[in-house]
Amino acid sequence: MRDVAVVGTGMTKFGELWGQSIRDIFVEAAQQAIADSGVDYIDSLYVGSMSPGLFVNQEHLGAVMADYLGVNPIPATRVESACASGGVAFRQAFLEVASGASDIVLAGGVEKMTDGADVTDVLAAAADQEYEVYHGITFPGLYAMIAKAHMHQYGTTREQLAAVAVKNHRNGVKNPNAQFRSEVSLAQVMSSTMVADPLRLLDCSPVSDGAAAVIVASLDVARKLNKNFVKVVASAQASDTIALHGRESITTFKAVVEASKKAYKIANLRPADINLVEVHDCFTIAEIVVSEDLGFFEKGKGGEAAKQGLTAIEGGRIPINTSGGLKAKGHPVGATGIAQIIELYEQLTSQAGPRQVKNVRRGMAQNMGGSGASCVIHILEAQ
Ligand code: COA
Repeated sequence: MRDVAVVGTGMTKFGELWGQSIRDIFVEAAQQAIADSGVDYIDSLYVGSMSPGLFVNQEHLGAVMADYLGVNPIPATRVESACASGGVAFRQAFLEVASGASDIVLAGGVEKMTDGADVTDVLAAAADQEYEVYHGITFPGLYAMIAKAHMHQYGTTREQLAAVAVKNHRNGVKNPNAQFRSEVSLAQVMSSTMVADPLRLLDCSPVSDGAAAVIVASLDVARKLNKNFVKVVASAQASDTIALHGRESITTFKAVVEASKKAYKIANLRPADINLVEVHDCFTIAEIVVSEDLGFFEKGKGGEAAKQGLTAIEGGRIPINTSGGLKAKGHPVGATGIAQIIELYEQLTSQAGPRQVKNVRRGMAQNMGGSGASCVIHILEAQ
C-alpha cells in the first residue's frame, strides 16, 4: 500500500440551501476542492450520498456529478452507507490511491434534505424495515432507547446529555459553514421541545442540505503540489447488526469499537496519541457513547467528561467536534463524513481560525450509519 494524503478541501455552507439543487452544491464543493489543491486533473471521483432518490428523486449520482463537474469520461461512483456514506466514499478514494490504481481522486459527499421529502421516513429507510420501522420506530426513537439504557446502566444524567449540545453549539459559533451559529444554555437544551424521551429538540442534529469534497492523492503527488497536506495514517471500517434488538448491549456501538481497534492497530497508536476527534453526534447520546467506545473515556464516564469540559476546545483533554459537530454544523447525511475530514485538515494545517486547537499532530474522524450498524474511522496526521 502506498502512503496517501489529503491535499485540498471544499465545502458549501450547511443549512437550508433552497436556492440551489443537489448538483449545484456538489459541484460548488468539488470545484473549491480542486482549486484549493492545485491539481489539474482527477483520475476518478466518489460521491457519498444516502438517499438522493428518495430526497430529490435523483439516482445515478456518480454520472450526474461527473457530467456537471465536466470531468467525463473518468470513473464516477456513488457510495451509500446511510449516514456514513461520506466517510465510506473517502475510504474508497483512499484505497484506490493506496493500491496504486490512481494518483488523484476526488472524494465528496452530498445530501439535499429540505426539498419537501418526508425526512423522518426517508432516514428511517436506513433502519431495519421489517423489525423496527414497521413497528413505528424512527431514529430519534432508536437513540432515545440507547440514551435511556445508558442512563439506567451508568447513571448518565439529562444535564450531561445537554452539556454535549452546549459545547457543540459553542464550537459552531466559530465555524462559518455551520448551520447554527448561536450558543444555547443547559437550561435551554433541557427545556426544548421533547422529541423522543429523553431526547429533546436541542439533543438532535438538524435536517440539512450541504456538500463537501476533498482531494486524495499519493504522497508523491502531494509533495510536488508544494502546499499544506495531511497524511492518512489509518482507514478502518466495521459493521454490526442493523437492528438494536440483535445486540448484546445497546450502550456500546460494537462497530465503533471494532473499527477503532483496527485503526489504532494500523497506525500503531493509542487513544492518548490522538489530539482531537470529530465524532458522529447525530444525537447527544451518540457523542457520549462513541467517546467511550473510541477509548477516550472509561465506559460509562463519557457524560461526566462532557459535563466537566474535558471535550472542550479550551482546556479539554481531548477536544471533540471542534467544527460544531453534526449538532451545530448540520448533518446533510451524505456530506457529513467528508466534512469531518475537512475539519481535521483545517486543524492539522493550522487553518481553523478561532476553533484552532493548540499543538495538534493527529486527528480522528468517526462516521457511522443508522443506529451504529456501520462505522468508518480515519486517523490523519500533520506533516
Ligand atoms: N437543533 C436546533 N434547532 C433546530 C433543530 C435542531 N436539531 N431542528 C430544528 N431546529 C429549529 C429550526 O431552525 C426552527 O427554528 P426557527 O423557528 O427559529 O426557525 C425550529 O427549530 C423548528 O424547526 P422545524 O424544522 O419545524 O423542526 P422539526 O420539528 O420539523 O424538526 C427534528 C426537528 C429534531 C425532529 C429534526 O431536526 C430531526 O428529525 N432531527 C434528526 C435528524 C436525524 O435523525 N438524522 C439522522 C440521524 S441518524
